[in-house]
Amino acid sequence: MEWRKILERRTVRFFEQKMPQEPDLRAMLEAARTAASASNAQVLRYMVIRTPDLSEKIFHCSAFAGRVKPRRNPVWGKNAALTYMAILAPEGKGEADAGAAIQSMMFAAWERGLGCCWIGAFDHAEADRLLTPPAGLHVRYLLAVGYPAELLPVREDIPANGDPGYYLDDEDRLHVPKFTVNALTVWK
Ligand SMILES: Cc1cc2nc3c(=O)[nH]c(=O)nc-3n(C[C@H](O)[C@H](O)[C@H](O)COP(=O)(O)O)c2cc1C
Repeated sequence: MEWRKILERRTVRFFEQKMPQEPDLRAMLEAARTAASASNAQVLRYMVIRTPDLSEKIFHCSAFAGRVKPRRNPVWGKNAALTYMAILAPEGKGEADAGAAIQSMMFAAWERGLGCCWIGAFDHAEADRLLTPPAGLHVRYLLAVGYPAELLPVREDIPANGDPGYYLDDEDRLHVPKFTVNALTVWK
């Protein structure tokens, strides 16, 4: 993958009502399983949710784009993702592994024309109840996956004193401010 593609990836929250293809989902899982892992212990497990009834329930326990509510809140049956990945981890473990795995999954998806929304704001007890992970594991994160159905968000580079809050413009396009390298980095 050409590394600059990494810079172009943006979170997508509105999706076409078309299922992602299984080979693309498998590519995401390949990216996840080969991601960096503390001590290479590989404590994470994955679940692919694409049964309409279960996807709908998972969607309803998730929260989207709190900063621009309700303009980037998807609606089930209209523009909500039909497919979700659940990232399962043992209680209190695998947090950094999950970050590495999810970022890799999102890049694999983006390269295939799929967008993702990493979901940390969900009803954890309800997700565990709905998905019944194997013993000792919990749903740590969800990832909505699908074909983007929104004007792709644009990155804005901001200085150290800039406001990192994402916002929607008059055309309903999301702007995502990112601090520049100079704003974030000390070289010694
Ligand atoms: C740990 C984590 C949790 C997140 N949880 C949510 C979420 O619950 N709902 C949501 O809409 N976006 C969520 N996001 C997506 C962020 O809002 C998004 O990454 C951020 O606005 C920057 O946009 P970008 O991904 O396009 O760079 C989450 C991202 C991370 C890293």
